[in-house]
Amino acid sequence: MKTVPFGSTVAPSVIAGMMRIDDKDDAPIRELYRAARDAGIDFFDHADIYGGSMHHCESRFADALQLSAAERDEIVLQTKCGIVPAQGMFDFSYEHIVTQVEGSLRALRTDRLDVLLLHRPDALVEPEEVARAFDELEAAGKVRAFGVSNHTPRQIDLLRTAVTQPLIANQLQLSITHAPIIAQPIAMNMAGEEQAVVRDGGGIVEYCRLNGITVQAWSPFQGGFFTGVFLGNPEYAELNAVIDRLAAAYDVTPIAIATAWITRHPAKMQVVLGTTTPQRVRDAAAGAEIELTRAEWYELFRAAGHLLP
Ligand SMILES: NC(=O)c1ccc[n+]([C@@H]2O[C@H](COP(=O)([O-])OP(=O)(O)OC[C@H]3O[C@@H](n4cnc5c(N)ncnc54)[C@H](OP(=O)(O)O)[C@@H]3O)[C@@H](O)[C@H]2O)c1
Repeated sequence: MKTVPFGSTVAPSVIAGMMRIDDKDDAPIRELYRAARDAGIDFFDHADIYGGSMHHCESRFADALQLSAAERDEIVLQTKCGIVPAQGMFDFSYEHIVTQVEGSLRALRTDRLDVLLLHRPDALVEPEEVARAFDELEAAGKVRAFGVSNHTPRQIDLLRTAVTQPLIANQLQLSITHAPIIAQPIAMNMAGEEQAVVRDGGGIVEYCRLNGITVQAWSPFQGGFFTGVFLGNPEYAELNAVIDRLAAAYDVTPIAIATAWITRHPAKMQVVLGTTTPQRVRDAAAGAEIELTRAEWYELFRAAGHLLP
């Protein structure tokens, strides 16, 4: 598996998201885990909110796998906090962050989180409170590294006024079809063009590259926001024709080409898979080994309907 820079270390360019394992029995979770590990994926993405109730998917993962201490040490466990579905709010207060981390540690049956991400920007954030929580969690050895998700450059700058730990990751929605963070800068300053509208606070990919923050692409195969995958979807016929041709040329499956479109980006992003199907994990992981040409990357971009001014 190709690796990318990740904080002071490296991590696989394809990682396994655990948002959709809520209704899975132990055996399919073990199979999914084994497929990921065999494909070189030792990095698992969680969140406190995944599943029907708080910490449900984290618990399903740990209960199904019953990892030994030695195997726990082999993997990276990342989770997120900051969303409070029961109260319809976001919460980056000291109390909430610390409480959620304690809950995740219990659910994941571990003594430390390798990475903690702040899930979605809290409008009422007080950077000093986040810093106090991070300092305490780091000093107690409960969290090893910190990052964010769905954050704009300015929101990260604001956190950095008080947070002293490096913010090493920003998890952002990105697929060939849902690509405003890449497509907007390409159409910059085009009056009247929808694609020119800034939705990410401006240049989030460039900001992450400048600051050594790894972009993690979530929903890498979804057409839009949980609207279903574009792969094999007749609504994206032109895109799938290009994907299928390239898949045949590289002797891989279409999901590998969709993965390669993200891993080809020089920002050295990670693709956060959401599939619970072991074969799809294997097929997607194969995409990280493919280096699409510049022409192929842009052909996929255009076939997805994005404007190239
Ligand atoms: N930070 C955030 O705000 C945020 C938001 C959402 C998600 N995430 C993270 O990102 C991960 C991925 O998100 P996602 O699940 O929406 O991404 P995804 O990988 O684009 O979508 C996976 C879903 O598509 C289904 N699917 C149907 N046909 C497929 C095909 N041909 N190839 C692949 N999948 C197919 C999968 O079903 P099967 O399971 O049956 O294969 C699964 O339900 C999550 O697990 C989570 O860790 C983060």
